[in-house]
Amino acid sequence: MIKKRVLTGITTTGSPHLGNYVGAIKQAIDLSRIKEQDSFYFLADYHALVKNKDPKKIERSCLEIAATWLALGLDPEKTFFYRQSDIPEILELNWILSSVTAKGIMNRAHAYKAATDDNQVKENRDSDKGINMSLFSYPILMAADILMFKATHVPVGQDQKQHMEMVRDIAQKFNHHYGDIFIIPTPVISEELSILPGLDGRKMSKSYKNTIPLFLPSKKLRKLVMKIKTNSLEPGEPKSTEDCALFDIYKGVASKKEALAFKKKLEEGMAWGEAKEELFTYIDQLFAKPREDYLRLTQEPMYLQKLLTEGADKAREISLPYIKEIKEAVGIKSLS
Ligand code: TRP
Repeated sequence: MIKKRVLTGITTTGSPHLGNYVGAIKQAIDLSRIKEQDSFYFLADYHALVKNKDPKKIERSCLEIAATWLALGLDPEKTFFYRQSDIPEILELNWILSSVTAKGIMNRAHAYKAATDDNQVKENRDSDKGINMSLFSYPILMAADILMFKATHVPVGQDQKQHMEMVRDIAQKFNHHYGDIFIIPTPVISEELSILPGLDGRKMSKSYKNTIPLFLPSKKLRKLVMKIKTNSLEPGEPKSTEDCALFDIYKGVASKKEALAFKKKLEEGMAWGEAKEELFTYIDQLFAKPREDYLRLTQEPMYLQKLLTEGADKAREISLPYIKEIKEAVGIKSLS
């Protein structure tokens, strides 16, 4: 029996919001605490390059996201926590995997297809307009991330389901040709993971500009919470929690018991203003300590750098001997 090995990548773009926390970060950190398994959490900074060409933003975002995960409780002693770009073996593997990946399969990858479809809608003569090779081969780099560390389980969002199928495909094709080298990873896609609504009731997403960023100062946080869309029911009138963004956000962050109590109060006529005040206080307190840690960490880039370097060293104890084995399997033996 091989030990369960959980691995997931975090693309280092933008700053995380409450929707990311409820939808992914919280579960991932909880998972990392399970003793009987190894966990690998890495910052996918090469993946970030696909869309972002601003060097300052790339650098900043990587540190901010590292600080976010640490502030929310990821324990770097108990996990492998590193930057993708600090593991050069991943890129070596990326090339090797490219050589067993059919172009036709990549043509169907979601991220790429969405971009070509978009060009078609805009009636661009070239359906590949504005698309770079890294977007096209994005799933291959993802495969390298995963296969490099013999991950058995990969928690990802629903949107990565197809990419994961491609990863499995690539690994199987390689194994079929070169022998049993790779572990075929199982995606872990939680169906019930809550999709948090944003301020306007639509899914919380940067593209809708309706997010509640993590670690806002209390005053700003309160202002945003007050903006959550509600209906015009008066104080004292019973309020349903169906289709209620305010309740869904509360439910996303609170325990089951707390959510039930909140529901009861709404049904008994709690005023929206009061409910918002309660939600604000909840979030404000929940993140009080992480916010402090986050601010401290972002002011200590040297500390973060040291931690990530140590993380990469630890991870390379695995990737270095393994890439040698993989290269040998394809016929590229070390000469020394
Ligand atoms: N593509 C993933 C996302 O956008 C991030 C990612 C990169 C990843 N490499 C990975 C996730 C490997 C899991 C495993 O969410």
